[in-house]
Amino acid sequence: MYLINVLYYILYKININKKIKLKINNIKINNIKINNIKIMYYHKLDKNTFNNYSITEFQYSKFIKLKDELNKARQQINDIINKNVDNKYKIQSLFDKISMSLYAFDNLCTKNGILVSKYGAEMVTNTWLKIYELGNIFLSPFLENKIQKRNPKYPKKDDYIFRSLHVVEAPGTFIIALNHLLKTKFSSINWNWTASTYLESTNDENQNNKKTEYFDDTYGIMHYFPNNWYYGANHNGDVTNIENLISFRHFMLNGVGDRDLVDLYTADGGIPITDDCNEYGNIDIINQKLYFGKVLCGFLTLKEGGIMIVKTFDHLEACVVSILYLISCCFKETYVTKPQTSKPANSECYVVGVGYESLNRQQLNDLIEIFDKINIKNQHMSIFKKEDIPRNFVNEIKKWNNYIVVEQINAITKNMKKYNKYYNSLDELTEKYEKKRNQICEVWVHEMKIKKMDDKYKLLNFNKDKDVI
Ligand SMILES: C[S@@+](CC[C@H](N)C(=O)[O-])C[C@H]1O[C@@H](n2cnc3c(N)ncnc32)[C@H](O)[C@@H]1O
Repeated sequence: MYLINVLYYILYKININKKIKLKINNIKINNIKINNIKIMYYHKLDKNTFNNYSITEFQYSKFIKLKDELNKARQQINDIINKNVDNKYKIQSLFDKISMSLYAFDNLCTKNGILVSKYGAEMVTNTWLKIYELGNIFLSPFLENKIQKRNPKYPKKDDYIFRSLHVVEAPGTFIIALNHLLKTKFSSINWNWTASTYLESTNDENQNNKKTEYFDDTYGIMHYFPNNWYYGANHNGDVTNIENLISFRHFMLNGVGDRDLVDLYTADGGIPITDDCNEYGNIDIINQKLYFGKVLCGFLTLKEGGIMIVKTFDHLEACVVSILYLISCCFKETYVTKPQTSKPANSECYVVGVGYESLNRQQLNDLIEIFDKINIKNQHMSIFKKEDIPRNFVNEIKKWNNYIVVEQINAITKNMKKYNKYYNSLDELTEKYEKKRNQICEVWVHEMKIKKMDDKYKLLNFNKDKDVI
């Protein structure tokens, strides 16, 4: 009987692991634990799904409880900050500094950090690290595969062009970090990138003459590479606008400047929200139209087999569950991950679709039609009826949520404890953690197999030849 139970358990585990891979690799080097979390959603391509769109509103009771717990933890931060109304901004700033002292990777984001000084990296920020990490995990195998498939007779004569589109992209760090990855690890691959972002537009007095301004061009990447940026039919880059989304597809397909549908599509960013816990608690709701726009833009511009990387936040509302279900139906593999370099106390995650199974014209038109009907006033909106989203799929999301919400609450609690202990002695805290922070950074750099980039490949090295893209 015992043996049968063991066998049953092993088979059960194999079966579960095939369907859903919640893989938590606890990598330990020099006694430092680094979590590398991946989850693979159950893949179910049900053609009927695409005829079953229906904008409905509902909530998952199992997620409401998690949302409340998370909000309670966030509320504690609000309480500390609001305790002294006169010093609110000072306390907020101190709290942020203490949280940053515990965020090891900040050491890599400075001019003296090893990525810049030793590896020739440009403009390293927290965003740089995140996309490098995601690119290393998900894009590198894709490109290695492309290189392996080259005709060995003509290894140099390769007309494959790796195309990417990055929307919601200012100030362009994803492009800068991907440039480092591509030029140091895949230098033989031709790369053609296009980017877009929201352009703030200010109407002049007579309302006829619209003046657009670059928004957030911190590094000059929009200014110095104007031909790589496209802002859609409405010239404002807004991916919640349906005309813009359709025009992205036409722009890519018409091959302007050697363009075509893309191998890699990224959509970072979200609607800026305040630290107010009520707003934070509704981050999914506030972002729902943007989520749909980002995903639909990917479906419209990706080529068969392509990769999509989209930022999401909490996965606790029907809108996100329905989008995740949609994505899982359209890719061979769908992952949700929180990079090691993403700050643990925030909700940010990335959903990665690998191996796009292209939607046909009718399916794209159906999605465009439903997207147009999304009304941000529908708070708990889904594009599928509750009964049309398989229960086992929702259970898979529940496993992720149970895991990630606890991680997030733990990180918030840790920040709070450190604040209470060190609010008068920030330097002591920074000093105490300095060695550990450097060790964690070293492990990450080692794990990512970062290589030094030659100056000639730098995107923002304006004294050199710029024929690198
Ligand atoms: C977090 S930043 C993106 C960072 C970027 N991935 C990088 O690597 O530098 C988010 C950007 O999204 C833009 N954005 C916000 N709402 C948008 C929308 N509806 N359409 C297009 N862009 C949007 C913001 O203006 C901001 O520049």
